[in-house]
Amino acid sequence: MKHFTVFGNPISHSLSPQIHQAFAQQFGVELQYTRSLASKATFAQHVAAFFRSGGAGANVTVPFKQQTAQLVTHLTDRAARAGAVNTLIPLGCGQLLGDTTDGAGLLNDLRFITQRERPAAKVLIIGAGGAAAGVIESLQKSGMEVAMTNRTSAKVTELQQRFVGLQGLEFADLNQQRPSSWQAGDYLLVNATSASLGQQHLAVHDSWFEGAALAYDMMYAKTDTVFMQRAQRAGVAKTADGLGMLIEQAATAFALWHEGMLPNTEKVRRQLVSRG
Ligand code: ATR
Repeated sequence: MKHFTVFGNPISHSLSPQIHQAFAQQFGVELQYTRSLASKATFAQHVAAFFRSGGAGANVTVPFKQQTAQLVTHLTDRAARAGAVNTLIPLGCGQLLGDTTDGAGLLNDLRFITQRERPAAKVLIIGAGGAAAGVIESLQKSGMEVAMTNRTSAKVTELQQRFVGLQGLEFADLNQQRPSSWQAGDYLLVNATSASLGQQHLAVHDSWFEGAALAYDMMYAKTDTVFMQRAQRAGVAKTADGLGMLIEQAATAFALWHEGMLPNTEKVRRQLVSRG
């Protein structure tokens, strides 16, 4: 039986094993999918040992996505630009291909939620760390105008050098009134900061929420995140957490490992939403 795993820290909460087992059932495939806890110091050894023992593929989550991009022998173009890897594919003879399916996952979830091929005219990504870097390219390719803003400027400058065409809102103070160039109903807000991890408050002026067609948090939790609750209080039309993105990025990874077999994600969404 093929063995897959997900590396992360923490990892015990990960829903990836359930998601991949549900996908496998759809195709009558039998597989083993485990969770692997690692530390920064031991991560590379864990990965090497997993593939030496015949591992068929692995996912990588927080905090190892950037480290993995440095570790593999080959990178897809999109993973190289993102500087992050969430999916590992063994190529034989100790060679490993690193890819990222996070951008495709977020875009597919935004399409699902909005029921539109181009989910909105514009999207404002809040945060400029690894999570943001992983999704910029897919959002741009969907035809949306992508802007970003961050608490501090250093990471934005770095991303601007890597991704051309990022709009000039990067240092805009989200505490200030939304400018008129951001028309109500025309844009999405995506929280790509790590603030929700620590249930931290994110300073955003109400006007940004009031005009947003959707406030999306890339984090997921059993209850609404602080960002979602804040958006709901400010009257944003729709809020979502990153569970749909998790399912969609897993589907793209599944297809990479299983000869292009693309699972039905709607079914798995229903199963996980009713998990309580
Ligand atoms: P990740 O890989 O999860 O993106 P990261 O690379 O450490 O993690 O980036 C974290 C991002 O969240 C950064 O954009 C950070 O802002 P700074 O660059 O100013 O540090 C942002 N962030 C974290 N906590 C935040 C908070 N409480 N308010 C606003 N931004 C926050």
